[in-house]
Amino acid sequence: MRKHIVAGNWKMNNNLSETQSLITDLKNQNKTSDAEVMIAPSFTNLWHANESLRTTEIEVVAQNMHFSESGAYTGEVSPEMLKSLGITTVILGHSERRAYYNETDESLARKVDAALKHDMRVIFCFGEELSDRKANNQEAVVESQIKNALFHLEADAFKNIVLAYEPVWAIGTGETASPEQAQEMHAFIRKTLEDKYGSETAENVSILYGGSVKPNNAEEIFSKPDVDGGLIGGASLKAEDFYAIVNAF
Ligand code: 13P
Repeated sequence: MRKHIVAGNWKMNNNLSETQSLITDLKNQNKTSDAEVMIAPSFTNLWHANESLRTTEIEVVAQNMHFSESGAYTGEVSPEMLKSLGITTVILGHSERRAYYNETDESLARKVDAALKHDMRVIFCFGEELSDRKANNQEAVVESQIKNALFHLEADAFKNIVLAYEPVWAIGTGETASPEQAQEMHAFIRKTLEDKYGSETAENVSILYGGSVKPNNAEEIFSKPDVDGGLIGGASLKAEDFYAIVNAF
């Protein structure tokens, strides 16, 4: 059975002392749902966060990584560097990485391969822009993002892949996809997986929704049958809000 997952993507927020204080607040929250909980601090705070949360239910994950083993890639972080800290899950393909750092389906396919080679779990993000949705082209865009970056994989690889549908127009804008729009797209994504890999693989992959998920809308979004969790930006920066979302399952 697929898992419920709520992951907080901190993006480029929180220095070391802010990280320490948010972690203290997170440790004081009560989890009443069955969701797996993850947080993704910046690279500089991964070690500290992971050490501080080692004995808790919260998994610390990375926001990005390079596909190479090592070498002349100034400013980059390798899979092995993350593994050496005990980090075994990485977010790949976030729309901000695609938009500002020229990440493409092709480079993301290499990152996915590198993560899987290192026995890491991938949270693979994708989603259409506002112009795509206005042109009613969202399904074709999402389908090609998934196919180009993931469909060279064997079915077995999907045991280590979580999908995150994040419509770009809903990220940080306060505008969420309606629960119906999210369900419609998630069902389409699962059907796309089923057509390629069969129903067992498709049924077992968790598909998260991201884009302005807040305590006041999480429950309705999470109630949809193909929405298996959330990738949370802004609301993950406050422990109470984040746990209100975690506990919305
Ligand atoms: P917001 O929740 O701030 O809209 O961000 C969503 C997101 O990009 C998570 O990766």
